[in-house]
Amino acid sequence: MKSERASFGSKLGIILATAGSAVGLGNVWRFPYMAGEHGGGVYIIVYIACVLLLGIPCIVSEFVIGRRAASNTARAYGILSGGKPWMLVGLLGVLTGFLISGYYAVVSGWCLHYIYASVAGHLHGSPDFFAGYFSSFETNPWKPAFWTLLFMLITHLIIIRGIRGGIEKASKLMMPILFVLLIVIVVLSCMLPGAMEGVKFLFEPDFSKVDGSMFLGALGQAFFSLSIGMGCLCTYASYFSKDTDLMKSAAQIAFIDTVVAVLAGLMIFPAAFSVGISPDSGPSLVFITLPNVFQQAFSSMPAVGYVVSAAFYALLALAALTSIISMHEASTVFFEEECKLSRKRAATIVTVACSVIGLVCSMSLGGYDLLTVFGRTLFDVFDFFTGQIMLPVGGFLTCIFLGWFLPHKLVRDEFTNHGTLRGRLFGIYLFCVRYVCPVGILLIFLQQFGII
Ligand code: PFF
Repeated sequence: MKSERASFGSKLGIILATAGSAVGLGNVWRFPYMAGEHGGGVYIIVYIACVLLLGIPCIVSEFVIGRRAASNTARAYGILSGGKPWMLVGLLGVLTGFLISGYYAVVSGWCLHYIYASVAGHLHGSPDFFAGYFSSFETNPWKPAFWTLLFMLITHLIIIRGIRGGIEKASKLMMPILFVLLIVIVVLSCMLPGAMEGVKFLFEPDFSKVDGSMFLGALGQAFFSLSIGMGCLCTYASYFSKDTDLMKSAAQIAFIDTVVAVLAGLMIFPAAFSVGISPDSGPSLVFITLPNVFQQAFSSMPAVGYVVSAAFYALLALAALTSIISMHEASTVFFEEECKLSRKRAATIVTVACSVIGLVCSMSLGGYDLLTVFGRTLFDVFDFFTGQIMLPVGGFLTCIFLGWFLPHKLVRDEFTNHGTLRGRLFGIYLFCVRYVCPVGILLIFLQQFGII
């Protein structure tokens, strides 16, 4: 059965597909703001330290499990633990990715709508106009639902074409376009008058902001941004070849993800500061603040403003698409292998189920009482449970599984490609997975609930 398993066709394909999973909405709407607000250059250094000490070891751990077991994430944990209940940890990862893709698809659908709205010239009005435009769009029961379904359909069409013909091909096409769009917008943004203020906001170190919560915030961001803890990396690693250098691939992916996050800051802040608008984070940054920034920054050439705006939302949609593909794949291959279904059928089940979750999340923003839990919309509830609870729990248990349960020889064999490379780094890696990562993740978790 193992020899029939699909695989990526090239090293570049592996890096672009996996970096595609990591580069997503988190890079654009969360990292820049966190960096600017929490000490600029100091935050970036702390973030990089978190990526090195926690992010890369966790990525490698998922790679080790996925490649060794060569199966879907739930079964991979089951195979390696010899049938012990560790399978549930893998299952938790698949479920987390599955739930995240539902609401991630909603935001991705909004990006598609905003591409259309930019090109059609709808994003045009007084500063107050943009908040009203977004709120009437987001609470409309049908429009966001349409775009969410369209986004899921695009994901579905890529997934059913398989690993090489679908995921790898799409990543090789989309990731370079994403980089080009990013660089073009960064250059345009940095050329605006007064742009240097934005650059300063992002990079100027402010040591007074250094505290425990800044460290933990950086740790949590690194974790989400690198797609750790939800079976995507493990699933992709099951398609790696025996000679893929796991450590090097993890480092390359972390590097790309971090560079994109910093460039996203250089895309947003110079433009925002140039027109004197203070930037924020999350949906309001992307769908309310930025359209206004684009309009004002290019007020003398509105057509350029529309193109930049459309390019920005296209970039965001591509980043979201490559991320959602990885979550979809983790669930699809689970159904394919566990329920012995054809790929098409398994993908259809996942697409339909994610679409239903997406539609429910999307409609919950319309203020229907049925779709709220304790006064929170289902959209927020999904976001909270997956991001703040399921992800850290999955990541923590993965480190325990790898660092304390699996035989070190097995981990070493996989890490060093059976003793052919990076033997010296193994000790450092194992130390991080056994001690640094579990403690770090536990701290994030406790902090989120106000316990420390
Ligand atoms: N890493 C993605 C981001 O930064 O937006 C989010 C993400 C993608 C999380 C894929 C989880 C995942 F499985």
